[in-house]
Amino acid sequence: MARRNGTTGCISLWSAALVLALPLLLPNLFSAAIWRSSLFSEWEAPKARHAVLLNSLLTTRFNEREPENLWEPPDSEGWEPCTQPLSEPFLPVESNGYLQVFLEGGLNQQRMGICDAVAVAKILNATLVLPHFDVNPVWQDMSSFADIFDVVHFLQSVSHDVLMITELPHGFEWATREYYATGIRATRIKNAPVQASPEWYIENVLPIMKSYGIVAIAPFSHRLAFNHLPTEIQRLRCRVNFEALKFVPAIRQLGDTLIQRLQETSQLQDDKYALETAKYLTLHLRFDKDMAAHSACDFGGGKAERLALAKYRSVVWQGRVSNAQLSSLKLRELGKCPLTPEEVGIMLAALGFGPHTRVYLASYTVYGGSARMELLHDLFPHMVDKHSLATADELRPFEGKASLLAAVDYHVSLHSNIFFSASRGNMHNNLAGHRAYLNVKKTIKPDMILLSNLFSNKSLDWPEFRNQTIEGHINRLGQIRPRQPGQSIYTYPAPDCMCKHSHPEV
Ligand SMILES: *[C@@H]1O[C@H](CO)[C@@H](O)[C@H](O)[C@H]1NC(C)=O
Ligand SMILES: *[C@@H]1O[C@H](CO)[C@@H](O)[C@H](O)[C@H]1NC(C)=O
Ligand SMILES: *[C@@H]1O[C@H](CO)[C@@H](O)[C@H](O)[C@H]1NC(C)=O
Repeated sequence: MARRNGTTGCISLWSAALVLALPLLLPNLFSAAIWRSSLFSEWEAPKARHAVLLNSLLTTRFNEREPENLWEPPDSEGWEPCTQPLSEPFLPVESNGYLQVFLEGGLNQQRMGICDAVAVAKILNATLVLPHFDVNPVWQDMSSFADIFDVVHFLQSVSHDVLMITELPHGFEWATREYYATGIRATRIKNAPVQASPEWYIENVLPIMKSYGIVAIAPFSHRLAFNHLPTEIQRLRCRVNFEALKFVPAIRQLGDTLIQRLQETSQLQDDKYALETAKYLTLHLRFDKDMAAHSACDFGGGKAERLALAKYRSVVWQGRVSNAQLSSLKLRELGKCPLTPEEVGIMLAALGFGPHTRVYLASYTVYGGSARMELLHDLFPHMVDKHSLATADELRPFEGKASLLAAVDYHVSLHSNIFFSASRGNMHNNLAGHRAYLNVKKTIKPDMILLSNLFSNKSLDWPEFRNQTIEGHINRLGQIRPRQPGQSIYTYPAPDCMCKHSHPEV
């Protein structure tokens, strides 16, 4: 796990990743050029905001032992994957027509779109055309479904449930993405409501599909409800998400190589835990300028930073950021401010992770660059990422391909002993659900409200801060929580994708 450059690749990440930002927050009008030009317009190194905590933790931490169960996964309580069809799967006797979806957003948003598209095809007895990935204006990644997911495996996995084709059939060659991009088209559904019901699709999409033989739905993110769906449909979505979607070999291989290096013990004689454990924690840190600006929070970078973020907000969102109405203090109280790298470091230390912890940083770009990462780095010197773990040769095929790099991070995160995400978002949600489904994984979900209270209470000393952080997260370690109405099956796979088997008394 040797660090191949001194800064965890932060600086190279920083520039390589200019084209990355978060999918959900991104309005269409958004231009990459604006983003790039405003990115370097301010600089003032961020200072430690929690110096008192940092100082006392740095003086005590090296003598402390890690808590006993720190790396232990939570008890599965009998939950197991269960996605098999209830009855013999069947294909429609006759297809009602072709279904196309154009998926926007990043990899993790597209992933959910694929699962929902298969389900909608099933509901409509349609023939699904392999989903099309739109090019995100900021990420600029042209990668297609087949560049990321193993198409053969995918087709085989769903072959008993839905009809699928990978290319438009004869007579429908006209129905391209470009065709839909350049005019109003009768076969395009533009108004599918968020969380639409199966009945909505039958009433609104089926007739068009039947009269034209084909229909395209875009936008299609989060367009199928989670509630009141037949079990068969839910299980089909689960099978697609957790079984049918497999990354292409190149992604899995690079991911496995990184995992191997993270688990290597030989190079780490200085690491006193290495021989026993070779475990690693993945830290998903999403703290880019886009998110920093959108949150409307104050991150302690002073007036220059506040002005820069406000400017970014007005250019990119043109006053449509509702958070900006609230004071920074209020936003913090409400738990709406993403944790800074410094706060992430303090929280992990509070949970008991020592300075030898191997941390894999799954992240593209950090607002504030290496300066903002410094404190986190001081706390966790064994922090690496794909740029420092992989060789230049290994990374070359992935260069400039945000979705492929995100897939590598997904793979490494999925298989890590611990996954910790500093902010909520599609990647966090998908991984939390996927790791719950695999059922052996610790996934730490920070309590943002608690933490903001703890961080803002200047009369708390380190032992108290630590005690309250540990106590406050006892039930946020990846324990299976049955999905509540409205929640996503991809984030909370129980009970739709998982069943509880009671252990017989011995
Ligand atoms: C789909 O096919 C099944 C079985 O053939 C049938 O029961 C169902 O009504 C069909 N649904 C639609 C929307 O065509
Ligand atoms: C701050 O922490 C102290 C010590 O635990 C506690 O007594 C006090 O109520 C806290 N203040 C707030 C505003 O939560
Ligand atoms: C936190 O403090 C309380 C009260 O002193 C104590 O009972 C509890 O065991 C402490 N928890 C941890 C995790 O140290």
